Amino acid sequence: MTKKYVISSSILSADFARLGEEIAAAESAGADWIHIDVMDGHFVPNITMGPFIVETCNRITKLPLDVHLMIEKPERYLEAFAKAGANNLTVHVETCPELSSTLKQIKSLGCNAGVVLNPATPVGEIEPFLAEADLVLVMSVNPGYSGQSFMPETIAKVADVRKKLDAVGSSAWLEVDGGIDVETLPKMKEAGATAFVAATAVFKHPEGPAAGVRLLRAMMS
Ligand code: DX5
Ligand code: ZN
Repeated sequence: MTKKYVISSSILSADFARLGEEIAAAESAGADWIHIDVMDGHFVPNITMGPFIVETCNRITKLPLDVHLMIEKPERYLEAFAKAGANNLTVHVETCPELSSTLKQIKSLGCNAGVVLNPATPVGEIEPFLAEADLVLVMSVNPGYSGQSFMPETIAKVADVRKKLDAVGSSAWLEVDGGIDVETLPKMKEAGATAFVAATAVFKHPEGPAAGVRLLRAMMS
């Protein structure tokens, strides 16, 4: 049965020397997806992970891999990420001049097609494509780093996307990413979000990732 709300634990804040244990701890506490932040040093200033890490995670866990592509020309890499074991492939509208065909390409690779927009990008940019997306991700920080402060103005944006998804009869996931913790998760849930990405609140929790996931999970009931 598909869950109504999911936690997508972002390994960007995990200890990579102990990646297997970190993911296992999050999984044991009820994390639903593993979020993998791919950054190319061009679309965002930071450089992080590629298909190799996705393939590594695929061997570590049975949880769906939620791959967030913060890269230019993502269509060049979709096949490599799909082959590595990605389940959700999410592309930024800012990087996709042919968004409809990119979403089709993702689906043809057997993955769920996601579209994401930056805090400064108006919802109108993705509106024509809402019915085609399996997942819509609203950034609640500027992409590039974990540990940034939540931008409260994005709450209204989530509510707007929720309204527009409902209007087209879409059952797509509405995901939020950036500064999600026990304070901000309920606000985003109230606005209509159904998938919650968290890096710091999970992997930097002082009592470990399992405690971090449990606390977030408690906020979803
Ligand atoms: C930011 C990434 C996020 C990041 C979230 O560019 O897309 O997924 O890992 O980190 P926190 O939860 O610490 O804000
Ligand atoms: Zn992300």
